[in-house]
Amino acid sequence: MNDQMVAWNVGYVVAIAIGVGLFAYVFASTRKGPAEEKLDVGAWKKRENAWLYVVIAGLIVMAFLTLVEQQIPWTASAKDGRAVANVSAQQFGFVFETPPAFKAGQQIEFRVRSTDVSHGFAVYGPDDVFITQAQSLPDHTTSLYMTPTKPGKYTIRCFEYCGVGHHVMVASFEVSA
Ligand code: CUA
Repeated sequence: MNDQMVAWNVGYVVAIAIGVGLFAYVFASTRKGPAEEKLDVGAWKKRENAWLYVVIAGLIVMAFLTLVEQQIPWTASAKDGRAVANVSAQQFGFVFETPPAFKAGQQIEFRVRSTDVSHGFAVYGPDDVFITQAQSLPDHTTSLYMTPTKPGKYTIRCFEYCGVGHHVMVASFEVSA
């Protein structure tokens, strides 16, 4: 695992611990106190409504950060001067039509297809962090746009179970500086 993966995993574990703690707190709070205690339903209803606005505001912020700020790969469109690479996926490997020549900062358009069954086409950076992916389908060409920011060795992995050799369906390409 690299540093980024360790950080994310630690983050998940902490989030789970906080979630379990909150659950225990709420669970315990419902087990004690006099059962006949009079609840002020109106006040709780107000609190519930207030939380609803917090959730809605959070969703709007997240939608803005992803959709509007275009942090999602499928909003990427073709740029002039991009490198085009035709790739065939097949049981069990990836074949580039011509040896790829990619440069950092230059957009790549992968035109991905399959010669047999459905495969995945997932790209990992030189630090082995997942970047983007598309399906590679029989009789259909899928364009996947990606702009590598760092030079180095990038890895392609199949992301869809496609037979007994699925796990060995790995390829790589180099991005120069
Ligand atoms: Cu190809 Cu899994």
